[in-house]
Parts: sequence; structure tokens; C-alpha cells
Amino acid sequence: MSEEIKTTQTPEKKKRIFSAIQPSGTITLGNYIGALRNWVKLQDDYECIFAVADLHAITVRQDPKIFKKNILEAYALFLACGIDTSKSMFFIQSHVHTHAELAWILNCYTQFGELSRMTQFKDKSSKHADNVNAGLFTYPSLMAADILLYQADLVPIGADQKQHLELARNIADRFNGIYGKTFTVPDGYIPKVGARIRSLQDPTKKMSKSDENVNSWVAILDKPETIMKKFKRAVTDSESRVCVGEGKDGINNLIGIMSAVTGKTAESITAEFEGKGYGDFKTAVGEAVVEEVRPIQERFEQYINDKAYLEEQYRKGAEFALNISRRTLDKAMKKIGYLPK
Ligand code: TRP
Repeated sequence: MSEEIKTTQTPEKKKRIFSAIQPSGTITLGNYIGALRNWVKLQDDYECIFAVADLHAITVRQDPKIFKKNILEAYALFLACGIDTSKSMFFIQSHVHTHAELAWILNCYTQFGELSRMTQFKDKSSKHADNVNAGLFTYPSLMAADILLYQADLVPIGADQKQHLELARNIADRFNGIYGKTFTVPDGYIPKVGARIRSLQDPTKKMSKSDENVNSWVAILDKPETIMKKFKRAVTDSESRVCVGEGKDGINNLIGIMSAVTGKTAESITAEFEGKGYGDFKTAVGEAVVEEVRPIQERFEQYINDKAYLEEQYRKGAEFALNISRRTLDKAMKKIGYLPK
């Protein structure tokens, strides 16, 4: 009897994820819990491609020295948070020339009217009224290029980027409609868990590093004593019971943060703090956050002091990225009618 023939099943192909974050000097606890930490978790189940979006960053004026430092620090910090270059592709956007090239092409398939409707453009152009440059306007077509170059299936994004992703889908559809299937039309990926972390000073607003009140946000690289101070000053309400409730935005937010960093449910947190005051609770949340960021801060110190390692990693990332993205760019250009190089 011959051995039973085993059908070699091809393992299901992993879906591909693309996401990017701008290098803006600091990463807040909100960015970490809302975005980065989820990226880290996705690495085992998806084929992940991540980038530091430094081309997008010059839509607002950057000081060259600070900008350079911010790009490298962003790269090191993402590694410190757990982006693993043996599992995922991780590169710096400006190192891969296909992004700017496809962005130009997609600009010609994006309508003025569509870009005019982007709420982020409207917000940013009123904030930076002295520098409403064309890049600020065409920012979404560069973002579309980032995503479409890699034929990404899914794009993890925050609520503020939903409209941009929708536009990327429309651009892909339009191009595919004219030339035949060229780009994968990406879906948004909204992580199952991922509390939206709010300002510690005005919990009706999102935690944001652009908030002038530095006590309203925590940076992952804040010193432990700074983190403790910010949590002790966090706005609460006039009651005293640690529980989720209406009109208790501050406490709800702190419970959300506590739950995100410890993995405990809101119910168990409520039980744990029964009979204790807000002061005790705020201290406990601060301590939990300090513990969460401590290993990240330690790894960050290691990486940022090892420029050779960082360089090796981002070079490798850019090489991979170029290899994949070049194929898409070539395909799109061929369809348009460009002569092969
Ligand atoms: N625009 C995004 C932000 O500011 C960053 C970004 C650039 C991005 N390219 C992307 C996000 C592609 C997702 C996919 O948050």
C-alpha cells in the first residue's frame, strides 16, 4: 500500500497591511495606544509594511536640524515600541523614490474638487494660513501612493485619516476603471481594541501633541516624574467614585488608559478602587503608564545610541520597499502608455 497522498495545501496568503506615521518629534500615549501598539500586534497575522512619513511632514515648515533628528528618532522609537524588522518591512518614505513618482501620477487622477473637500486640508490651511502650499493640498494623493504602491489590503488608520483613505480608494477605482486592474483597493482597518485616548485637561478632546497645554498629553519618552505629575493634574469631576459614567469624561478616560495599559476591564478597575479616592486612582494610573513605557524608553536609548544599527535597518527596509513598489509603479506607467526605460 502506498502512503496516503497528502495534499499540500498552500497556507492561506496573509493579507498585506500598510501604515505610516509622520515624524513629529514626540509620540503621545494616545498615538501609542491608538496606533503603534496595534501595529506591533498585527505583525504576526499580517504581512506588514510600515513607514516613517517624512515626505508628508514638509507640508509644514521644518527646521532642517530638528527635522533630521526627528526622523531618526521616530525610526528608533518605532523599533523600541516593537516594530520588528525580521517580521515587517519598515522604512523611511523619502528613501524610496517610487512614492514621490506615483504621487505625481495619481495627482493627475485626482480632482481639485475632491482635494478641496478634505477636512484636514481645510483645518491645516486655516492653521497655517501663511503657508498654504500645494503639498498641503495634494497630501492625500501622496498618501494614496504610499498605500497603492504596496497593493495593501488593509490600512490601519485613526478617524482623522478616514476621509483620506476613502479618497485613496476612489483614486484606485478610477485608475482601475480606465486601465484595468492595476491597484488593490484598500480597506480601512479599525482595530478591535484601541481606546481613543483623550486629553488629560479637556477629556472631550482627543489627546494631541499640538495642544498648547503640555499637561494635556503624555509623551512616551516623558520622564517618569513628568508622567506622574501630568496624571496627578488630570481633570476629573465633582464625584468621587472611580467608575465609568455619564458626565465623567475625565475618569472614563483614565479608566480607559488604565485598562489599555494593564489589560484589566473597567469593572475590575472599579472594584479595585472601591472606597478609594480620585487621588489614589490618578497615582495608580500614572504608575501603570510609567511601567508600560519603561521598557520602551530603555530600548529607545539603546537604539538611538547605535546609529550603525539604525542605518542598517532602514537601508534594508528601503531596499525591500523599493523592490515591491517598483513593480507597481512600472505597471501603472506601462498602462498609461509610458515607454519602458
Ligand atoms: N497621513 C497620515 C497621518 O498623518 C500618515 C500617513 C502617510 C499614512 N501615509 C500613510 C497613514 C499611508 C496610512 C497610510 O496620520
